[in-house]
Amino acid sequence: MLQAIRYNQGNLEILDQLQLPFVEKYIPIQNSEDGWEAIKSMKVRGAPAIAIVAMLALCSELYALGTAGKIPSAPAEAQDYINKKLAYLLTSRPTAVNLSDAARKLEVLTVEAAARPGSTGQDVTKAFIGAAEEMLGKDLQDNQQIGHNGAEWIMKHAANSDTPNVAVLTHCNTGSLATSGYGTALGVVRSLSSQNVLRHAYCTETRPYNQGSRLTAFELVHDNIPATLITDSMAAALLADSSVGVNAIVVGADRVAANGDTANKIGTYGLAVLAKHHGVKFLVAAPLTTIDLATKSGEDIVIEQRPSNEVTSIKGPRQQDVASGSAALDLETVCTAAPGIKVWNPAFDITPANLIDGIITEKGVVEKGADGQFHMDVLFN
Ligand code: MRU
Repeated sequence: MLQAIRYNQGNLEILDQLQLPFVEKYIPIQNSEDGWEAIKSMKVRGAPAIAIVAMLALCSELYALGTAGKIPSAPAEAQDYINKKLAYLLTSRPTAVNLSDAARKLEVLTVEAAARPGSTGQDVTKAFIGAAEEMLGKDLQDNQQIGHNGAEWIMKHAANSDTPNVAVLTHCNTGSLATSGYGTALGVVRSLSSQNVLRHAYCTETRPYNQGSRLTAFELVHDNIPATLITDSMAAALLADSSVGVNAIVVGADRVAANGDTANKIGTYGLAVLAKHHGVKFLVAAPLTTIDLATKSGEDIVIEQRPSNEVTSIKGPRQQDVASGSAALDLETVCTAAPGIKVWNPAFDITPANLIDGIITEKGVVEKGADGQFHMDVLFN
């Protein structure tokens, strides 16, 4: 399985996703600063992966402090150190809630550890490290369950009675590279494929940063899943093509509000509108760590604005070097827009809940109630 995150007792490495699929290079993350930079620059991206790398980056830092005998002996001091680092890591990217969810849960845990009678600074850091390390395995298990639940729902509600298999369209990258493994929406595609009921997967290019053509296409080729890449502007024509017969669109999420409104990679909203027009099921796949009951609706979600050069340029190797099978590929950045043009580059958009048919989680698929509304709180009871 592709692994975006490699971790063992304070040794953290991430696969540099800015160089994929052309160069497969792991880079070490030794402390919170390295983690912050990797997240901000999108060397690692995807809501669950961001949260896990941030927490494990701090683990690596705490391991190193421990080895150097520099963990404060007073529990309150150790807790304060961790809290400041968490606050700093939270400033890396604003939209995905998984990061703040992880930071909040681990902060509570360190407060509890510090309050225990006779506890030391080491006990506090140990509690943090133990819980952060558990996140890695838990995310993988959740994704496998999401894949299973989503595939089952699609076969029940989106498959045609006369065709034993389905075609699915997905957007951005929600696979092994965006999580600790398997993926969310791409996990649903993987599950359909492993049950031999996937006729074909379509992935969008996902402009402007091409997480679809660089990362999802890479994962689909890697796993030998029958798949075709389209540009974002081809989705309407694909859905209109009855010989293709797309049964469902499955996307991931960076934050699902209490009413089901969903922030996900820019372009998701457009796909949901198209799905409604063409009578195609539109599904969001996300772990509980992406569902934010404290955010009432999409209006309250902060949308990250990214630099203009992500729209006006593109990075990759020369075509002839790839064609000739050259082992060492140099990546070059080329401009694709008229110099001087103004750029709008929101990284995410909000899909209103009324365009979503179901939200696939590890606990099951949430559908709207009789009142026509999602009740995401049922997942937490
Ligand atoms: O800007 P990115 O690449 O971090 O955005 C990623 C997405 O929008 C994904 O769909 C989302 O994080 C879910 S990943 C399982």
